[in-house]
Amino acid sequence: MAYLLGIDIGPTGVKTILVDEEGRTLKSATVEHSLFTPRPNWSEQNPEDWWKGTVASVREVISEIDPEAIAGIGLSGQMHSSVFLDKRDEVIRPAILWNDGRTAPQCRWITDTVGIENLERWVANPALEGFTAPKVIWLREHEPAHYAKVKTLLLPKDYIRFRLTGEKAMEMSDAAGTLLFDVRARKWSKAMLDALDLSPEMLPEVHESVEVCGRITKKVAEQTGLKTGTPVVGGGADNACGATGAGIVKEGRVLSSVGTSGTVVAHCDAVKVDPEMRVHTFCHSVPNCWYLMGVTLSAGNSLRWFRDVFGRAEREMEARTGVDAYDLLTKQAEQAQPGSEGLLFLPYLTGERTPHQDADARGVFFGIGARHTRAHVVRSVLEGITYAMRDSLEIIRGLGVRVEEIRGTGGGARSAFWRQLHADVYEAPVMPVNNLEGPAFGAALMAGVGAGVFKDLVEAADALVKVETVTEPIPEHSAIYREGYGLFRALYPALRERFKEGAEMVSGKR
Ligand code: XUL
Repeated sequence: MAYLLGIDIGPTGVKTILVDEEGRTLKSATVEHSLFTPRPNWSEQNPEDWWKGTVASVREVISEIDPEAIAGIGLSGQMHSSVFLDKRDEVIRPAILWNDGRTAPQCRWITDTVGIENLERWVANPALEGFTAPKVIWLREHEPAHYAKVKTLLLPKDYIRFRLTGEKAMEMSDAAGTLLFDVRARKWSKAMLDALDLSPEMLPEVHESVEVCGRITKKVAEQTGLKTGTPVVGGGADNACGATGAGIVKEGRVLSSVGTSGTVVAHCDAVKVDPEMRVHTFCHSVPNCWYLMGVTLSAGNSLRWFRDVFGRAEREMEARTGVDAYDLLTKQAEQAQPGSEGLLFLPYLTGERTPHQDADARGVFFGIGARHTRAHVVRSVLEGITYAMRDSLEIIRGLGVRVEEIRGTGGGARSAFWRQLHADVYEAPVMPVNNLEGPAFGAALMAGVGAGVFKDLVEAADALVKVETVTEPIPEHSAIYREGYGLFRALYPALRERFKEGAEMVSGKR
């Protein structure tokens, strides 16, 4: 029996899983890493922490097997986050992460310098704070001494690849999120690099996700217990790996995933770009395919906020009985009627990416009345998150992408209530899949293809990823939500300027 390893350098921790060729996850280990916010709006991590987490989690999951049996390793990771290496391949400063908000001025500069039409033409995406290129420009402007030392730019999983194999390499799905990559032609964009006056020399060679682009070194074999020479494939961005691991490898299939953020990901056989660039177009891990993705920044995060700020009773109950506070909150939500009797929640706690691309937007409870109870409030939070994700789905539908199956993953997919809510709001059947391991599982499938265990990702995903149940929409609920969604959509445009004023007030500019 051949084994595969999937390693995900996630936003909160490194997760390593051991999978067999039947797709069973035999062992899983997660080592959390710290997030640093040295200034408001900054978000950084220490690449050395990712490395320590990788070594510890790999050691743990392979402790009881013969490392000889590991056919390949796949890497997945948080997108966009910048690792700068000097000429001795040392990390120059902490990595600036995907959810760091410091680069708004650099994004404006890129947009003005390049022009919105060229951004669409060259890299198929707008300049957003989270993406990598604005971070490089920020370094050039604010830390010129550090910038002068930069020899190589890597993304989180590619830094771990470098530590595992000594090879500097990237693959298409993660390169696509740098804003320096010609997503249509699947190669670095010379036009973009020239326009930003950045050297192509800092960028590694780019591969497809299933290609072997390094092998475990002797030193790492001694540190981890892996076998020297074990192949490491390109792997993918966490969203590409998450989609692959849920079987989103064919047109018609769409992923709806609720984690800290919520993503809606649609597979495309041919490249499709939203002319308004409200959803992202990125290269998929399936060779020569792409995906469209919308991101709701605070999906699960909105419920977490509610639990932390207002859910003391539920947290105490969880400590006493072991019943998850989120489950207790969801139970309360079930007591209110669909539509929460007109109470609406806009989940823009940390601004919003799709469709508004507005860092100043903030959360709103709209329409609170004296009749509303705690059940209505919790339910409105869950409904608001789902309406925001429907915004992404509607853009994808509007681009003519077929939506035949919506597969659910992430925390929400485990709850029957959430699944029903999603089916009702999306007005489409929603189906959870048997893989609840997230991106690490997709990365393991890529390792399997690279090592020759599977023919290709479509074969692997179709054989191993199974739909568990199908939740059909309830027409009466959908009718109520259709009205609620209409009002939800009208609220942001009405508040856009007020959000700006609010942001100025908080920053002391008013
Ligand atoms: C995608 C994005 C996030 C990160 C989180 O554009 O910013 O989903 O990949 O890990």
